[in-house]
Amino acid sequence: MSSGIGLGLLGVGNVGSAVARHVHARAAMLERQLGRPITVQRALVRDPNKPRDASIPADRLTTDAAAVIDDPNVDVIVEVLGGVEPAQQYLRRALEAGKHVVTANKEVMAAHGVDLLQLAADRGLDLYFEASVGGGIPLIGPFRQDLAANEIEEVHAILNGTTNYILSQMAEHGRSYTDALAEAQQLGYAEPDPTNDVEGHDTAFKLAILATLAFRGRVAPAEVFREGISQLTKADFTYAAELGYSIKLLAIAKRRGDTIEARVHPALVQRDFLLGQVEGVYNAVRISGDLVGRAMFMGRGAGPEPTSSAIVSDLIDLGHNMRRAAHNRIPVLLDRPVRVLPMDEVISRYYLRLWVKDRPGVLARIAAICGEHAISIASVLQKEVDPDARRAELVLLTHDAREADWRPAIQRIMDLDVVPEVASVIRIEDLLE
Ligand code: NAP
Ligand code: HSE
Repeated sequence: MSSGIGLGLLGVGNVGSAVARHVHARAAMLERQLGRPITVQRALVRDPNKPRDASIPADRLTTDAAAVIDDPNVDVIVEVLGGVEPAQQYLRRALEAGKHVVTANKEVMAAHGVDLLQLAADRGLDLYFEASVGGGIPLIGPFRQDLAANEIEEVHAILNGTTNYILSQMAEHGRSYTDALAEAQQLGYAEPDPTNDVEGHDTAFKLAILATLAFRGRVAPAEVFREGISQLTKADFTYAAELGYSIKLLAIAKRRGDTIEARVHPALVQRDFLLGQVEGVYNAVRISGDLVGRAMFMGRGAGPEPTSSAIVSDLIDLGHNMRRAAHNRIPVLLDRPVRVLPMDEVISRYYLRLWVKDRPGVLARIAAICGEHAISIASVLQKEVDPDARRAELVLLTHDAREADWRPAIQRIMDLDVVPEVASVIRIEDLLE
């Protein structure tokens, strides 16, 4: 071990560069905090010749992961590569080599976090992952430590800045999904291939991590129901606003008896709740605990600066552990098997927008199908009438219905000869005070 704290960076991209810069720029503060300096000893990249805005001497860059992990001057591996492999293997090797780990990698933590945490605990090492969910917003620390006395009942969250930006643009400026996505790409929020964000994968990884911590048992990303935002249209935002709702890509985890719900999908959220007012690239997490009641965390969920805030803060916590040789002080408690409720059993209200032939008896036929499937209609709006096509646009809100009842009902409505188009089906998530 070096006399200071030696970092091995795996990745010097957007986040890795920011971590290197801030460790360098805050060297004096870090040394005062920890009683010894923190320095980047080695750093793994794909292309050492790429120009990068990081305070790392060129001779410390390498393309050989082992040269970083096995460097005797490296005490802590900071993994900011992204993707599952080779990142997962490198983290495992780092822990096996006795190195502490700080990672921002939600994909690895969602899929392999429980095993890696166990490996770290077995070896008496620390594994920090605050940056993996919500960028700079403190979430893992609070779940692990500050809220540990609670039974968590519910988590409602906006965990993806890119999609929240797109949805905000659609709601506030009446942009189409395609235009809002193109703008998000120009601004560098959305990737050239936006699938991971817009189809909800990124949010599902983050929810799997939060649900695992909240309910104290492994929730795999594949168990999280997932629907993205690419089917949403401008008209839905207009109707939602008129009805007092926003449309958000929500991550929802709830205790339901001895099971939990874990789902990611667009949802109508009451506009007069804070979660319904989170705009742009911001993220927010609303939790309900039996002792704390409701608590809300909000802030920048992505970007090199907020993400490096979480990573450098993890390094400070870890540095204190190193100073006292007291590692894994607050283990992630995973003492329960968690069963995720099948989506068919989830109960929700629904918003349905459809075009119908403008003639007598149409509404009665739709209402009859709902009745036959035990679905109660809460309200109906009829606004737009297209006299040339002799069709009208209906918006229908239901009371609570089981997903398993709703799906066949909606299929039967779609099959009606008087329904030329079912334009949108969106779940409604009613938050409680
Ligand atoms: P990035 O800009 O693409 O950087 C990735 C870095 O890893 C690059 O330096 C790249 O090398 C290196 N790299 C990737 N695969 C490699 C391999 N197989 N071998 C060697 N080097 C490899 O990514 P990022 O935006 O910094 O994100 C890093 C991590 O932070 C991801 O897990 C991401 O999910 C997480 N995160 C990011 C944000 C954000 O706002 N960006 C927010 C929260 C969490 P080259 O530079 O040579 O290409
Ligand atoms: N792509 C993510 C977002 C940031 O838009 O929130 C990384 O987690």
